Amino acid sequence: MSIKIAPSLLSADFAALADEVAKIEDLADLLHFDVMDGHFVPNLTVGPVVVQALRKRTRLPLDVHLMIEAPERSIEAFAQAGSDALTVHVEACPHLHRVIQQIKEAGVRAGVALNPATPLSALDWILEEVDLILVMSVNPGLGGQRFLPFVLRKIEALSRRLEGLPQKPEIAVDGGITVENCREVTEAGATVLVAGSAIFGSPDPRAAIERMRQAVGDVNPENTSRN
Ligand code: DX5
Ligand code: ZN
Repeated sequence: MSIKIAPSLLSADFAALADEVAKIEDLADLLHFDVMDGHFVPNLTVGPVVVQALRKRTRLPLDVHLMIEAPERSIEAFAQAGSDALTVHVEACPHLHRVIQQIKEAGVRAGVALNPATPLSALDWILEEVDLILVMSVNPGLGGQRFLPFVLRKIEALSRRLEGLPQKPEIAVDGGITVENCREVTEAGATVLVAGSAIFGSPDPRAAIERMRQAVGDVNPENTSRN
C-alpha cells in the first residue's frame, strides 16, 4: 500500500508559509495544518483565514487538525475556508457522532484524533463513520517532541480492529515521526505519516521527505510523479 506523507506546517516559517509549501508541493501528499486554541492545548496557532489564504497557494489537500474545544462551532468556517479534511479530538467532543455528521454534511472528509492515553475503544461505535483516524504519538500542543514508543502497539491494535471493515479509514500518526522511526510506524499499520520538525525543521525539507519515502519502501509508481 502506498504511504502518504503529510508535512506539518507547525514547524514551518509562519512568516513565509506559501514559500515553505512551494518547497515541498510536488513531493508531499497532504499538508497538515495544526489549529490550537489555547484551551484544549496550551498553545495558540491559526484559524480559518490562514487556511483560506493557503488554499489559493497550493493544490495539496489541506488536512486540518483541530486541537480545539467545542470544534462544532468552527466546522463551517474551516470547511468554507477550503479544508479537505477536518479532524476533531475525541476528548473534545461529548457528541462525537454529531460532530462527525456535521463535518460530512459540510462536504469535507471526517477525521477523529486520539491522544496517546485515550483508549481505542472510544472509537468503537464510530469506526464506520470516519474517513481518517489520527493517532497521536505525542501529547498534542507542540512540535519537536519525542515519539512515545507504546503508541506502536496502539497502531497495531487499531490496524487489526479495522480488518474486515468494508470502508477502512486511513490511519494517520502524528508526533515525533522521523526518518529513523517511520518504517516501524508504517509496519505497524499507519498509512499517513504527519511530520513537522523532521521535514520543515530540517535544513533540506525535500531531502527529508525523500528519505522518509525511501525508509518506508514506498516505491509505488503512483508516487514517482506527483502533481
Ligand atoms: C502536535 C501537532 C503535530 C506537530 C508534530 O500537537 O499535532 O502535527 O506538528 O510535530 P513533530 O513532527 O515535530 O512532532
Ligand atoms: Zn497535528
